[in-house]
Amino acid sequence: ELSAQATQSNLFPGPATALWAYTARTAAGEALNPLLRARRGDSIDVGLRNRLNEDTTVHWHGLHVDEANDGSGLHPVAAGASRRYRLRVDNRAGLYWYHAHPHGRTGAQLQRGLAGLLLVEDEEELALRQRLGLRWGERDLPLMIADKQVDARNAIVYKDGADDWIGNRVLVNWTPEPYLDVIPAWYRFRLANVSNARMLRPCFLHEDKPLPMLLIGGDGGLLERAWPIDDLFLAPAQRADVLVDFGALAPGAKAVLRSLDYVAMENEDESGAFAPDPMGDHPGAVAMGEPLDLMELRVIECATQRPPAQLPSLDAMSAVPAPPDTAGWPVRALRLRMDEQGRWFINDWNFHLSGHEPAFTVKRGTREVWEIRNSMTSMPHPMHLHGFQFRVVSRAISPPDIRGRQVAANGLTAQDLGWSDTVVVWPGEIVRLAIDFSQPFQGVQRYMLHCHNLEHEDMGMMLTFAVA
Ligand code: C2O
Ligand code: CU
Ligand code: CU
Repeated sequence: ELSAQATQSNLFPGPATALWAYTARTAAGEALNPLLRARRGDSIDVGLRNRLNEDTTVHWHGLHVDEANDGSGLHPVAAGASRRYRLRVDNRAGLYWYHAHPHGRTGAQLQRGLAGLLLVEDEEELALRQRLGLRWGERDLPLMIADKQVDARNAIVYKDGADDWIGNRVLVNWTPEPYLDVIPAWYRFRLANVSNARMLRPCFLHEDKPLPMLLIGGDGGLLERAWPIDDLFLAPAQRADVLVDFGALAPGAKAVLRSLDYVAMENEDESGAFAPDPMGDHPGAVAMGEPLDLMELRVIECATQRPPAQLPSLDAMSAVPAPPDTAGWPVRALRLRMDEQGRWFINDWNFHLSGHEPAFTVKRGTREVWEIRNSMTSMPHPMHLHGFQFRVVSRAISPPDIRGRQVAANGLTAQDLGWSDTVVVWPGEIVRLAIDFSQPFQGVQRYMLHCHNLEHEDMGMMLTFAVA
């Protein structure tokens, strides 16, 4: 049973911060935005009671669900009302999440806190954990990262109708000034970027040098094999499963999880003329693309015996097929663009201007290629599809930062080699997705495709499509 409500939680010193949270009563008291755990195949039955003064929902991000239980804005739960979400978890093991999704208010409600994690487990995942010798909650930890704009009274603030809400404070697992004591050994972190709009480029650094890191999974669970990386791009809504080695560090040493600087590409033409003032609405905010420290890691003595320094072989963690050969699949072209008035569109659809009727219908059980093309003068858009996990099959005209990460044919990076529900399409880029629209549901099921930069979504960079 979750109750969406304003809480008196004091995240920051001073007056109550009034975090909005999904609140659950547990034996230990009240839990805010609890981590939910399910086995693949389990049925989930979650009640939502809306104690806010406005519509809300619980959206099950990344799950293969039917329309009624998807929790999109198509089925708002009014202030004071209740409802139940009943779904069967048939996703692969991985880190998924849940969050509010009312039309036009998703950014406001997530900024204030309405989001939590859902960990899905299966036999393969539990076996891997055994082989790694990393216990969940000890050296296998979720890091839910979000930036918040906090005012002088330490209250979380949000301006409706804002562009790209970025913050001046970072929370990891709802904790300000986060740090973690680590022993000199391998750790597994499940990174989730639950920021409204901030793209992160996470890197674990010791004395400005990246620590050894392996990418082992993404949105939809494990990759086939581990990939060594120094850092990665993690857009709003994306998840990454990584192993990080602190083994070379001595007790007393400090490391940092930092979002490195990158070229933010915010509507810049050659002269930078269209770049908005990134600080306008966000006093003290670190601009998009500037380095930002997320969390400190303090190396401590290992109390028990030293854990093994070596990892088991991670060459065949999971049977993940190569991206499918999509020759002959129908192609749906989707163009991301802004009009002269600064409104975002997917082709000619803007959710508020075009109405909420499905933009198109996909035949259930068919497979399609969705070709998403971003304009040259644009921003990176993390595009998210409800109801289905997809495969990225190609990237073309990628910016140098992405081209440099290619590890497979057709421009794919290591992050593209698993199942995804959110994919970044950089300015100028053409990204092709392979989507299998098979599902066990009947009748017309409506879902959303949208940018997960929540201010873009709320301003209409979203469409409804139907599967029937
Ligand atoms: Cu996580 Cu439609 O969103
Ligand atoms: Cu979603
Ligand atoms: Cu966008």
